[in-house]
Amino acid sequence: MPAKIIGLGRAVPDPVLTNRDLEQRIDTSDEWIRTRTGISERHVAPEGVDNSDLVADASRRAIEDAGLTADQIDVLIVATATPDTVFPSTACWAQPKIGLREIPVFDISAACSGFLYGYALAASLIDSGRARHVLVCGAEVLSRVLDWNDRSTCVLFGDGAGAAVIGPGAEGDGLLAHTWGADGRLAELLYQPAGGTRKPASHETVDERLHSVHMQGNEVFKHAVRTMSQASLSVLEQAGVRAEEVDLFIPHQANIRIMKAAADRAGIPMDRCYLVIQRYGNVSAASIPMALADARAEGRLEPGMTVLSAAFGAGFTWAAAVYRL
Ligand code: ACO
Repeated sequence: MPAKIIGLGRAVPDPVLTNRDLEQRIDTSDEWIRTRTGISERHVAPEGVDNSDLVADASRRAIEDAGLTADQIDVLIVATATPDTVFPSTACWAQPKIGLREIPVFDISAACSGFLYGYALAASLIDSGRARHVLVCGAEVLSRVLDWNDRSTCVLFGDGAGAAVIGPGAEGDGLLAHTWGADGRLAELLYQPAGGTRKPASHETVDERLHSVHMQGNEVFKHAVRTMSQASLSVLEQAGVRAEEVDLFIPHQANIRIMKAAADRAGIPMDRCYLVIQRYGNVSAASIPMALADARAEGRLEPGMTVLSAAFGAGFTWAAAVYRL
């Protein structure tokens, strides 16, 4: 039974931070940010709003959208790089907020590829008969791990959550093909140096701003374009689907130029590429499920459509999937 997305939900915190707002704080401009990244604004979680609150909001909407109740969910997987706490998992904090039963709940750490990693795990659980309905939620509060004095990173990211209920579909529906991978040799090109057990929090780690995103942007850019397009071509071939047959390309939304290059190399015109980066910034693991929810709400995504998604992120990790809703 192919694993199919049967419910979608998304959540963002209310406050919006525009590029114009950022112009007041750091040496940047709306024009630089828009032309280099495609971002116009992003949402930023206020104090008191946790990642698990966003998970809970998006998840409740996805469960309702699927026509289910919380007690029909068998597993919760939260994909995040910005958990509420190192332990327990954000999934554990979110579980009572959603009202789930005493089911297995856990986080996966695959950065921006997290949602597509979660989709593959959900498919395996459904295929093996271990679960019928798996809730996969990509959620991030990246604003809390940014150095707001570093203009090369702080303008890029935002906060939000997107959730999908995945359940058994009919023949020819759901997940048609999937690929995933990682190359940990490149981990230092994009990471948060302190806060784990290698460099626990200390006065020094705080003074040296090691609790924020450290990134070699141009290197990330090159790897992202190459890997997302290779993964897209590979998964299309595996599914036996031609680029012309893809109704909508919903890539991870890191940068408009990365998405254009990946779409171009995969042979998909931009009018079939769905973009949300302008309003959310890069929301890492949340970007694909948030985009799916918005695309459907805007009437761009209809039942039976063939969707291609591809992602690339810290690790480096990557994944791509062809699926029908
Ligand atoms: N405002 C104004 N100027 C800036 C800003 C800013 N916010 N940030 C950097 N600059 C300046 C730099 O200082 C540099 O100035 P200089 O030429 O005087 O030294 C100039 O702009 C060009 O800097 P570059 O880093 O070469 O700019 P580039 O065109 O590479 O764009 C960017 C930078 C947007 C970070 C790009 O490399 C990128 O998007 N990389 C991918 C990173 C990414 O998306 N990571 C997310 C996580 S992984 C993922 O999700 C795929």
